[in-house]
Amino acid sequence: MKRDNFGSRMGILAAAAGSAIGLGNIWKFPYITGKNGGAAFILVYLACIALVGVPIMLTEFALGRKTQKNAVGAYKEIEPNKPWHLSGFLAVSTAFIILSFYAIIAGWVFAYISRGLSGKLMEVAPEQLGDYFGGIISSVSEPMIWTFMVIALTATIVLAGVKSGIEKCSKVLMPVLILILVALMIRSVTLDGASKGLEFLFKPDFSQLTKDGVLEALGHSFYSLSLGMGIIMTYGSYINKKENLLKLAVQVTIADTLIALMAGVVIFPAVFAYGFKASSGPGLIFITLPAVFKAMPLGGFFATLFFILVAIAAITSTISLMEVVVAFVTEQFNISRKKAAIMIALALFALSIPSNMSMGPWAEFKIFGKNFFDFLDFLTSNIFLPAGGVLVSVFAGWIWGTKNAVKEIESDGLHSFRWTRVYNFAVKFLAPVAIMVIFVHSTGIMDYFKGESAEGMSSSVLYFIGAILVFLGVVALRFLKVKRESSKE
Ligand code: PHE
Repeated sequence: MKRDNFGSRMGILAAAAGSAIGLGNIWKFPYITGKNGGAAFILVYLACIALVGVPIMLTEFALGRKTQKNAVGAYKEIEPNKPWHLSGFLAVSTAFIILSFYAIIAGWVFAYISRGLSGKLMEVAPEQLGDYFGGIISSVSEPMIWTFMVIALTATIVLAGVKSGIEKCSKVLMPVLILILVALMIRSVTLDGASKGLEFLFKPDFSQLTKDGVLEALGHSFYSLSLGMGIIMTYGSYINKKENLLKLAVQVTIADTLIALMAGVVIFPAVFAYGFKASSGPGLIFITLPAVFKAMPLGGFFATLFFILVAIAAITSTISLMEVVVAFVTEQFNISRKKAAIMIALALFALSIPSNMSMGPWAEFKIFGKNFFDFLDFLTSNIFLPAGGVLVSVFAGWIWGTKNAVKEIESDGLHSFRWTRVYNFAVKFLAPVAIMVIFVHSTGIMDYFKGESAEGMSSSVLYFIGAILVFLGVVALRFLKVKRESSKE
């Protein structure tokens, strides 16, 4: 089967930046920055991105382009006889699961756009907005319909192909996103009292920076750059051999970071100007911001514009998540792109149903103390993603070898890559160790062993992690045995 490819450099950049720029930039980054002391946290975040994020992104691009394969096929191509392709499976599964609930959040955003357009959103009294949001997400049919539309829209773009679907769409949507962002930024910083918000965002206060903050910065750099789940690898496989991967990785990273900062500049000056709290967490964009817009002249218009911005950011991320799965299914099972996209979309919708219901009628159904939605989020963000990150860096650093990676990054001598030592160190040592630290921290294992009652970490979660480790151990042993037997023959 002939593989589709990106058609232009701008297209690659738009698609990869589109994947990276998502809810993580517009909602989560501003909020965690605020929580962790503003500018001080941003400096740490920048260091994490430069030292760990860029090297891993480069590695994923290189692995994809070298092998011209999907996330599973890439590992198989380089190590056909060892179970490394299981890390590819892990990546594909992570993308699939994340997409099943990311589409739900994107669905809420569409629900807000429709209420913004009809004017209903601005009719809600600010103190009622919490209940209003709760009412939307806990109902049964509406969120499900929006989720379905998000998945269908994503599938429609993906099935049109890499060049005529993903690339074309990203090339239109990303500039629109930037225009909306700039317009909202101008609105926000020209409000009376905006300077307090800017100060909050940019004036460093190292006394508020904690160990947790540093780890949060590291974890977020992975999530925000869409690393560790085969996305960048899959996109890398559609890039032509002459493209300068270093330049590309740096540009995607800069775009991702700039957009996150710009989102902060949209949100905080407005939040402060109208006397709202900056650290309201998950409710920030759905509960606090509508109240902020309501207080602003032409608020309904700006609110709708803002949610359109969030929707664009979300859709360019959902298409990248779906592409990982579609590329895997079409290539490994020899199925047409169209069939694969439709089947995957249906399966995704099926998996999204229990997540949707878990915010309403099935709220009492708990897995390890969490509802279904939170359980999937915990499983993917805190366990699968770090695991995927460690696996890809160990694979590139120790199995494929950084020499081969560098050769690919240099396009066999066409471009020069002067940072090979730093790159080598980052991929072989820094990244795996840093990610392990995030893993241990974010699952709360250490607190558990220290005997502190770990918040958010029930002993059942620990058993669960233990079970996964045992399972991985058994799989590894099985493969070793198979290998020994086959080498005996
Ligand atoms: N990078 C995206 C963001 O910042 C999130 C994302 C995660 C997208 C995983 C795709 C896959 O929101």
